[in-house]
Amino acid sequence: MAEKRSPCVVLGVTGSIAAFRAADLASAMVQKGWEVHAILTGDGARFITPLTLAALTHRPVHTSLWEEGEGGRMSHLDLARLADVVVVAPATADCLARTAHGMAGDVLGAVLLASQAPLVLVPAMNTQMWKHPATQANVKVLTQRGANWVGPAEGRLACGEEGPGRMAPVEQIIAGVERLVRTRSAK
Ligand SMILES: Cc1cc2nc3c(=O)[nH]c(=O)nc-3n(C[C@H](O)[C@H](O)[C@H](O)COP(=O)(O)O)c2cc1C
Repeated sequence: MAEKRSPCVVLGVTGSIAAFRAADLASAMVQKGWEVHAILTGDGARFITPLTLAALTHRPVHTSLWEEGEGGRMSHLDLARLADVVVVAPATADCLARTAHGMAGDVLGAVLLASQAPLVLVPAMNTQMWKHPATQANVKVLTQRGANWVGPAEGRLACGEEGPGRMAPVEQIIAGVERLVRTRSAK
């Protein structure tokens, strides 16, 4: 009988003030027995270090499109193929805009464009940024393309405002990803 392999999650982390919470999320995913490959954007790395995510996922963190893959392979394409689920948590307004427009100028964008795995987006941003028609138009496009959303939650934001924009709690993200992983492995 074929051995059951662990679900492979590609976890994109972008430049939101909530990026430090990706550490708890990565750790919870690893504790689930999932194989977690983290991607950190350049601005994400201003909020959390690649070392933190590498230590928690027990794997190198992808930060550049230009890193050399194993045996000269293109690691963004390997990551895209490997993923059972791609999760972006937190996802900035800018990341949602780039993704809605299919921009592949960084390793996360390239993976998002190349992957056929289900996508989970976990937005985190200021309430006005979330409510802005530009962001809402991007949300609509991404939803029409099949993106799954967890959050944003409502409450007090880092900027001091109240409203929607908080990154969803880790347990809620894990539950959302788990549903997709289960559906995939049932196929
Ligand atoms: C202190 C600080 C906090 C920020 N927090 C957020 C945030 O929570 N959500 C967001 O969409 N953008 C936030 N930004 C703006 C993003 O960092 C900026 O749009 C960046 O270009 C996003 O890059 P990335 O999506 O490639 O990681 C913040 C900027 C600063 C300086």
